[in-house]
Amino acid sequence: MQRDCPGPTARVLPTRPGGPPLDLSPLLEERGRVDPRIYVDPEVYELEQERVFGRSWLFLAHESQLKRPGDFITTYMGEDPIIVSRQDDGSVAAFLNQCRHRGMRLTQEDAGHTRVFTCTYHGWTYDRGGRLSSVRDERELYRCPVDRDRWSAVRVPRVESFHGFVFGTWDEHAPSFRDSLGDAAWYFEPLLDGVGGTEVIGVTKWTVHCNWKFGAEQFASDGYHFGMSHLSALKALMSQVPGAPRTMQEATPPPDGGRQFKNAQGHGAMMAALPPNLMRGARLAFEPKANEWLLGPRQDFLVRKYGEARASVFIPASNLFPNMGILPAANALRVWQPKGPEQMEVWSYVIADADAPADVKQAIRLGNQRTFGSTGIFEQDDTHNWTEIQRVLKGRRARREIFNMEMDSGTQQDAEGRFPGTTANRSSSEVAARAFYRRWASLLSTEGAP
Ligand code: FES
Ligand code: FE
Repeated sequence: MQRDCPGPTARVLPTRPGGPPLDLSPLLEERGRVDPRIYVDPEVYELEQERVFGRSWLFLAHESQLKRPGDFITTYMGEDPIIVSRQDDGSVAAFLNQCRHRGMRLTQEDAGHTRVFTCTYHGWTYDRGGRLSSVRDERELYRCPVDRDRWSAVRVPRVESFHGFVFGTWDEHAPSFRDSLGDAAWYFEPLLDGVGGTEVIGVTKWTVHCNWKFGAEQFASDGYHFGMSHLSALKALMSQVPGAPRTMQEATPPPDGGRQFKNAQGHGAMMAALPPNLMRGARLAFEPKANEWLLGPRQDFLVRKYGEARASVFIPASNLFPNMGILPAANALRVWQPKGPEQMEVWSYVIADADAPADVKQAIRLGNQRTFGSTGIFEQDDTHNWTEIQRVLKGRRARREIFNMEMDSGTQQDAEGRFPGTTANRSSSEVAARAFYRRWASLLSTEGAP
């Protein structure tokens, strides 16, 4: 049995005037105690913008959203607005969506195609890479030419693509994106790969009144809630799946089944132990056309490329630290966009194999909407839990009560060597949640390079 070594000593963080200081050491030491002020405190939120979102690799866009030079999308890194755009040489650039004159947003569109970005306030213009290209009435109004290098949009210094998924970081010295995955790559790579590549076939966004970490933590680790929170949804859908279990006992995963992966970079994944017939249904959709493809051509492709072991691991949910959830069961990718300590936006991307036929893509889209769209039958259960916790934390007294995250405190290597890295021996565990918070607390506690 292996237990993690203690991390660095936590800095004690200041909190609101008059309140006790916030001690992050229980998170660093994997003691499974969480002070709920990490979900409400504005100072913690500011610090995590700086030290978590300011230093981690963050998902920006998928290359299928940027097919031609001049295609762009807008997104966020933490709360910083970002333009991601395809360059003339085929590369992808990312830069702050902020004019250097007086700070206006350069574009207010979610996506589009353009030769230049012209600020609507006074008319400064930037090229597709964010370089300042012209200043309106420059000759008449400025004594000297405006320095193009000095006043171009701020570029994200590191941008990398992984199977078409584009990530960026402000940390110039960060390891490559692939290296930042560590042994999580064994699990995540097949999820992000596809027949003919992967394609984004839909994006929806909605606001949830809760801290962004509730989503990240649950996707990394919380197999425990499934058999309780989603019981009624499961029951309703069971009748739709040919050959599905007919009793709840049959349908819910055994508490000691499956596995859970965690690593020091804070990534986490659950591997399900569902009965085979429910597993077929869980390949989402409860949409026969989608299931035929996912369990047929897609599965064949994965076995050929990654081998039987990697291809057959069924991961219902996972989280790439800090804020990218992957829900293979729903062909869904999530970004938990922080919008203040008590609010986030869920950006939900539907992904599919690029070479899947159009009717399969439509079935995948439909299945995603019904289950994990903004009003999806499972999504509503999760949203309700998270927003209620956040409402409870409005209470002065309630936010002082420490949360318990002690489940399954011993972690084990897989004795048969089927699963790389550190895994718990069941999917209902909290080891990946603790690893997530350990990484989070470690970043929060250190200045400079993490
Ligand atoms: Fe953009 Fe003035 S703020 S041109
Ligand atoms: Fe859930």
